[in-house]
Amino acid sequence: VAIGPVTARNRFYQVPHCTGMGHLRPQAVAALREMKAAGGWAVVSTEEAEIHPSSDLSPYPEQRIWDQRDLPALRLITDAIHRHDALAAIELVHNGNNAPNLYSRLPPIAPVSMSLSSDYPKQARQMSIEDIQQLRRWHRDAAVRARDAGFDIVYVYAGHLMTLAQHFLLPTINQRQDCYGGSLENRVRLLRELIEDTKDAVGQHCGIAVRLAVDELAGSEGMQASEEGSAVVEMLADLPDLWDVNVADWSNDSATTRFVPEDGYQISYIEFVKSKTAKPVVATGRLNSPDLMVSLVKRGIVDFIGAARPSISDPFLPNKIKSGDISEIRECIGCNICVSSDSLGVPIRCTQNPTMGEEWRRNWHPETIDAARTAVDTLVVGAGPAGLECALQLAQRGHRVQLAYETAEAGGRVLAESRLRGLGAWLRVRDYRMQKLQQHSKVQLFPDNTLSANDIAELDCKAVFIATGAKWRRDGIGRSNRKGIQSPASPLIYTPDDILKDENLPDGNILVYDDEHGYLGGVLADHLSHQGHAVTLVTSASIVSPWTVYTLEQHRIQARLIDQGVAIYPNLVIDSSTDSSVLFKCVFSGQPTELECAATILVTERVSNDELFHELRSRPAVNHHIERIGDALAPGLIADAVFSGHLAARDYQATQHEIEDAWYKRELPALTPW
Ligand SMILES: Cc1cc2nc3c(=O)[nH]c(=O)nc-3n(C[C@H](O)[C@H](O)[C@H](O)COP(=O)(O)O)c2cc1C
Repeated sequence: VAIGPVTARNRFYQVPHCTGMGHLRPQAVAALREMKAAGGWAVVSTEEAEIHPSSDLSPYPEQRIWDQRDLPALRLITDAIHRHDALAAIELVHNGNNAPNLYSRLPPIAPVSMSLSSDYPKQARQMSIEDIQQLRRWHRDAAVRARDAGFDIVYVYAGHLMTLAQHFLLPTINQRQDCYGGSLENRVRLLRELIEDTKDAVGQHCGIAVRLAVDELAGSEGMQASEEGSAVVEMLADLPDLWDVNVADWSNDSATTRFVPEDGYQISYIEFVKSKTAKPVVATGRLNSPDLMVSLVKRGIVDFIGAARPSISDPFLPNKIKSGDISEIRECIGCNICVSSDSLGVPIRCTQNPTMGEEWRRNWHPETIDAARTAVDTLVVGAGPAGLECALQLAQRGHRVQLAYETAEAGGRVLAESRLRGLGAWLRVRDYRMQKLQQHSKVQLFPDNTLSANDIAELDCKAVFIATGAKWRRDGIGRSNRKGIQSPASPLIYTPDDILKDENLPDGNILVYDDEHGYLGGVLADHLSHQGHAVTLVTSASIVSPWTVYTLEQHRIQARLIDQGVAIYPNLVIDSSTDSSVLFKCVFSGQPTELECAATILVTERVSNDELFHELRSRPAVNHHIERIGDALAPGLIADAVFSGHLAARDYQATQHEIEDAWYKRELPALTPW
């Protein structure tokens, strides 16, 4: 498919996505992008690339193209992508009031004087006409640098409520009185000029793409595809060489499976675009299903299959489709752990693909793993996310693997949690691994099997990996209360494990107490209130499920609970209970609050199920490898468990010295002023 002067070799298009690496970790980001190109993506894009120090997103390490000094790092990326015959795209951006400029300390800029989008109590200043001219020059200069760095496609970015080009478009933000404000013609002027400038500067060599959010999913309160969204596309129709269209804000665009169902949730908003332009169109929305992909192209809705998360979960998705290995696709589960790493400014990770972000520093590949030095008999106890991943990778390395688990069905916590409202797609973590394990000649599965230390000793395997998971505490001990509940009236107390095992709850008010701050407290409150229980959520945090801010879900969770009539009590720590009520104290003042309830579910901390591990380790004659992995080692996210299982399988048979040597490459700042 031609994109202006360049041609993509197929229809798979990795749209811009951050990596938590950006300008700080150039070699790591180049290796990550290279993996996508090797996996068959015809276009591989960078994350948003700041064009100027007044668009400084620190502390988040996005891409940066402030000046010539950024070019060597960018060249690493384009060379890596070109090695696999793919096109390299760069998403130029000025983030306006979304850029706090914490590093550069320049005053932020915006169409009008307004607050920063973060909580930092500072305002962006209104741009003058001279500022707009300067912005156009910065963008143009950045485009020339991008071309010089070897990029084939240069983006003008008007999306996610995060960019100046979009801020000028939106009447809710742009209340200017001059020729850049007022009518749509005026509000579109800056975007048009940026496209024209970019075409003029580099259009002979590079395809010029526009990323536009055509709908804000806010009804008449925001831009709508049926109104100004389509009008903008119509006005600019064939000016760019490619339209990359989506919805805003970022939480709507990168919606999780918990709230937005699978595959193609953006189609109804963007399907008009091809009728307005002769230029190719790319769109996204967790496009995992090859059938849907074909149908979208055949129905003339898109020319390219765009993907961020499906390409993170499986960088080799295009090649697998090409070779017909569709069951090999490691499908995205839509959990947004990838987003959480960007939100935290650390290298990207993925629940399904533990090699994501480890391409350079650990030299990991999602499809291959080093053969074992000596193939031996191994045993994995437990078939949750850590056990399954460990077993699979041990087998791929050539070891013989026995996988024993207590239950009839494999999956562990993934199986249990996937039964909760909205989390069904999480079962893919198990399904992807189980279907491979079931077919693997080196693997034997032993369901319904509870092994004692004696049983394990008799099996005489060279290596034993204990993946027995963890259980939730019943005593109230957690981050805010290290002493636990005073005088617990035990019939009242449940743990998430009880609920996941479908234990019957009494009639009456169910109190969910969340001192963990992850997703589970909010999910349980949602699940139970959806089932018809009267639910009260009490948390030691100031908002519901605070960690989910990082996965772009927090506001949806809190809104849904409020809509479902869940009473929410923030800032309370559990103190004591009777058989009909629980006493809490304010985390700040200690003031008491007593809440009546029929049952309390404690979401506080977990305790590793590591008795078997310790028993095996305590045997004097043991001389083989015994290792704990996943939640049995340290309870965490499912992504942590998968990673732990993967790491253990990779490291097995390496000496401690080798492990430490390979642990892991770092990118250090050069100690020269430049
Ligand atoms: C980790 C992550 C980082 C992202 N960063 C960017 C970005 O820098 N620029 C951008 O335009 N979109 C960004 N996005 C949005 C994606 O490009 C994409 O539009 C969105 O995730 C929906 O597509 P998907 O379902 O294929 O992930 C990001 C998405 C993810 C998951």
